[in-house]
Amino acid sequence: MQKLTSKIGWKYDMTEVKRAYSMCLKKQAQALSEPRKLVDMTTHYPQADLADDFYETFEKIPLHVAIITYIGTVLVIFIGYIREFLRAVGIEKLKGTMEPMIEGFVPMYQDWSGFFNRNIYRRVQDCFNQPLSSVAGTEINLIERTSNDHNWNLEFTGETKKVLNFGSYNYLGFAENTGPCVEAVAKCSAEYGVGICASRQEMGYLDLHKELDELTAEYLGVDAAITFPMGFASNSMNMPSLVQKGSLILSDELNHCSLILGARLSGACIQTFKHNNMEDLEEKLRAAIVAGHPRTSRRWKKILIVVEGVYSMEGSVICLPEVLRLKKKYKAYVYLDEAHSIGAMGSRGRGIVDYFGLDPKDVDVMMGTFTKSFGSSGGYIGGTKKLINHLRLHSHASIYSNTSILSVATSHTADYLLLPHNHGA
Ligand SMILES: Cc1ncc(COP(=O)(O)O)c(C=O)c1O
Repeated sequence: MQKLTSKIGWKYDMTEVKRAYSMCLKKQAQALSEPRKLVDMTTHYPQADLADDFYETFEKIPLHVAIITYIGTVLVIFIGYIREFLRAVGIEKLKGTMEPMIEGFVPMYQDWSGFFNRNIYRRVQDCFNQPLSSVAGTEINLIERTSNDHNWNLEFTGETKKVLNFGSYNYLGFAENTGPCVEAVAKCSAEYGVGICASRQEMGYLDLHKELDELTAEYLGVDAAITFPMGFASNSMNMPSLVQKGSLILSDELNHCSLILGARLSGACIQTFKHNNMEDLEEKLRAAIVAGHPRTSRRWKKILIVVEGVYSMEGSVICLPEVLRLKKKYKAYVYLDEAHSIGAMGSRGRGIVDYFGLDPKDVDVMMGTFTKSFGSSGGYIGGTKKLINHLRLHSHASIYSNTSILSVATSHTADYLLLPHNHGA
């Protein structure tokens, strides 16, 4: 029996491959006969002017910047070694940078960490771990500090400094300690209390949650939605109710940890494709359909493509029109995490689907969180009524988890965003 190893590392025998391939060719004949081309957004999508933005490239670090950075690092280390030497022979008297020793205690830092602390980190330590004296809104107040012992101890000066906040995801500025969201939460906790102390399946499903579910579905433009008290759990606890053993997850290599955890917990086979690389995704889809399950060669029960709308660390925008074209062509499903795009992308703020002017109903699972643009907490999944009813019955995030009163803040944000003058309707 002739054994082959595929490019992606699966081992299978040649007769099985031929059989699976001819079966696949028959089934896929119609779909595969279509010429393979990137979706022409100029003719297919109303927001054609976005087409240029979409084929993004990442700025490469210029060579001279890279070289200067390396030289700077080496120089700081080199000067550090010279000063260590001067201190050791008694020429440099300034010992303030040395760790203050307490009798009977071993030094906190040794070897390289000691050197790094004395000569590099400690000298600029006041730039890190800055305490704040305000809510992390659009602007934040930094508490100013000073040190008399080379940054070993920092003391408050009593002054604060107002700076712009680039450190939290409060994209639309709703996470404030004043305004309608906070007032709504205060009013609501006076009526409902602070804790709910029950899950959705028991007594934790309040009129507030029903309202939020409906508002979310309306906001997304889908049939139904279900909300959860935590965005991370919306991914990690729901994916196992959607795909199981015998299914394949094709996951972008840069997907968030909650998606990776959800995929692992599901028991499905997982393959990653290169970040936002549609050729690689198509190649993996084809190979998966041709070869089937690596052990049994049986066809996959489901193939789920998992992507994010906007990747927070890279700032890249998913090539959604092409993902949807591939999903239709190869009869797969798409799970879209809009954590960073909902509220922030698209002419009406409805996320990446709105940005490309696509139909939200083409995305099978529309996931997102309320912790970024909505300035609250929790997550949601939107889709067909069938999908949402399935999750209501099977999702660990709703059966075994407490619900939250903070959803009120989210409702108010969503309500605000839905106002006609805000989305130009
Ligand atoms: C893409 C993505 N999905 C899910 C989450 C989890 O959301 P939350 O912070 O609301 O739990 C995050 C968090 O940053 C995220 O970046």
